Amino acid sequence: MKTILLSFAFFLLLSGIQAQKVVSVVGPGKAINPYKYSIVKKATYAKAAVSSAHPLASQVGAVIMKQGGNAFDAAIATQLALAVVYPGAGNLGGGGFLLARRSNGELLGLDYREAAPAAASRDMYLDQQGNANISLSQNGHLASGIPGTVAGLFATMPYAKLPFAKLVQPAIDLAEYGFVLTEREASSLNSTRESFLKYSTRPTAFTKEGRWKAGDTLVQKELAATLKRMQKDGAAGFYEGETAKLIVEEMQRGKGIITLEDLKSYTAKLREPIRFNYRDHEVISFAPPSSGGILIAQMMKMIEKFPMNSYGFQTTASVQLMIEAERRAYADRAEHMGDPDFWKVPVDTLMSEAYLTDRMKDYDPNKAGVSTQIKAGVVSESEETTHLSVIDAAGNLVAVTTTLNGGYGSRTVVGGAGFLLNNEMDDFSVKPGVPNMYGALGGEANAIVPGKRMLSSMTPTLMLKNKKPYLTIGTPGGTTIPTSVFQALVNLIDFKMDLDDAINKPKFHHQWFPDEVVIERDFLVDTKKKLEAMGYRVKERSAIGRTEGIRILPNGQRESVADKRGDDSVAGF
Ligand code: DON
Repeated sequence: MKTILLSFAFFLLLSGIQAQKVVSVVGPGKAINPYKYSIVKKATYAKAAVSSAHPLASQVGAVIMKQGGNAFDAAIATQLALAVVYPGAGNLGGGGFLLARRSNGELLGLDYREAAPAAASRDMYLDQQGNANISLSQNGHLASGIPGTVAGLFATMPYAKLPFAKLVQPAIDLAEYGFVLTEREASSLNSTRESFLKYSTRPTAFTKEGRWKAGDTLVQKELAATLKRMQKDGAAGFYEGETAKLIVEEMQRGKGIITLEDLKSYTAKLREPIRFNYRDHEVISFAPPSSGGILIAQMMKMIEKFPMNSYGFQTTASVQLMIEAERRAYADRAEHMGDPDFWKVPVDTLMSEAYLTDRMKDYDPNKAGVSTQIKAGVVSESEETTHLSVIDAAGNLVAVTTTLNGGYGSRTVVGGAGFLLNNEMDDFSVKPGVPNMYGALGGEANAIVPGKRMLSSMTPTLMLKNKKPYLTIGTPGGTTIPTSVFQALVNLIDFKMDLDDAINKPKFHHQWFPDEVVIERDFLVDTKKKLEAMGYRVKERSAIGRTEGIRILPNGQRESVADKRGDDSVAGF
């Protein structure tokens, strides 16, 4: 408390601004004004940088590094800030993956994906006739897996330098004193208003009388109190004691099934990252229970033998080849991928040269493939998310993708604790052949089992060039995540784009089923027409993903880019 007041007073002294108008969210001389901030889409910094979905969260991470923290400190503080300023996806009640390469070369893959509660069961979303009721897997209390994010933050702490109390303070200030909403945030809260009222059992900070408008301040007192319990008691301040009690009481009011025991027994897990080479780069990405790392390995290896550079960016030749690689990889996702602690994922085979060459045997550059004729390979052995990327002065690379699953998750706010719960149970296969909210199909590999983690598409990814740290990247977007990362990497490597273009040029997506190519609105019209003439069904979407990336240029500068598709922003020094 003393520190907050001191930093607050110091900032006011510096700024001469009225007390009720401004609050410092970081510390003496490094104040961030949550009432006045700007979005920076790209910048090059000499030492350290953060790219995230919210300018305040990126600034928090950058200032933490300026105050002596490393990329892990920044990733923790930025995630905590996102849980406050970006409630649609930033979270305490969701889960995620952190992938890092320490400056000493050590790799770290931290899985804090949500898990099915002990009382969950394979057919829990089927009615008496055996029909899937996806409303229950997507909305309200029964849709939530056991939250993993807070366990993930504390499992990251051994790699950080500053005390957790300091890393969480900016988030506490932002929750307690509020921050100003952008146009996009106000309209997003307004359009979710009815769902908050329907799926939460107590009044929430996200609804008020009348509509939110740009410039309004969002204050989240209950969330501030939850964060303070974590500041005082660590992970137990969330998984036990008052917060756990509030979660379980919320569950009981809304017929949910998460228990005190579920919360207490949740742990983050270490996963060995997926690694593969593509031309002269080494790509490092996330292993199951994410499908992302294997999918990008498969897609990149399937196209590596083709002269992508001479085909050129967004030509019919390069796009068609990539679509067919995407189709085949996603067929494998549905059949072979799931939580590796419950399902044997044939990782090596799925990524092997021989297998992938065989998968592309029936590829025809002159006509569209047909998904009903392309099954998963036979092997002999499983929209709202947010990504942040950080590089610090020492060269530690961190990529974190974290999610509530849909926008604002289950839309259930834990009464008295002020945070949203995820609707991640929908990422399980609720019934074979029934698509989840991203249209993904699945079967046995991804069936619901107590304690099992639902298959994810989140793909936090790093890249080395000439064995040196080069890139950290990732995006939200459900099943479009691996194809977005795939395209950003190909744009950088094959089409020699700078990071801004690699992220912001129009993207496309194919996921086996539905058998269609989704394109962004600004996709080349000529290529779209040619694809249609070849037999592809093409569908437009306003935006695919929100990619955040940072790369190290040959002169050591950190080229930092935040996706143009949202309020995303970079910060650094
Ligand atoms: O883990 C997954 O694959 C999904 N729950 C991610 C959801 C997502 O990216 C939503 N963002 N737009």
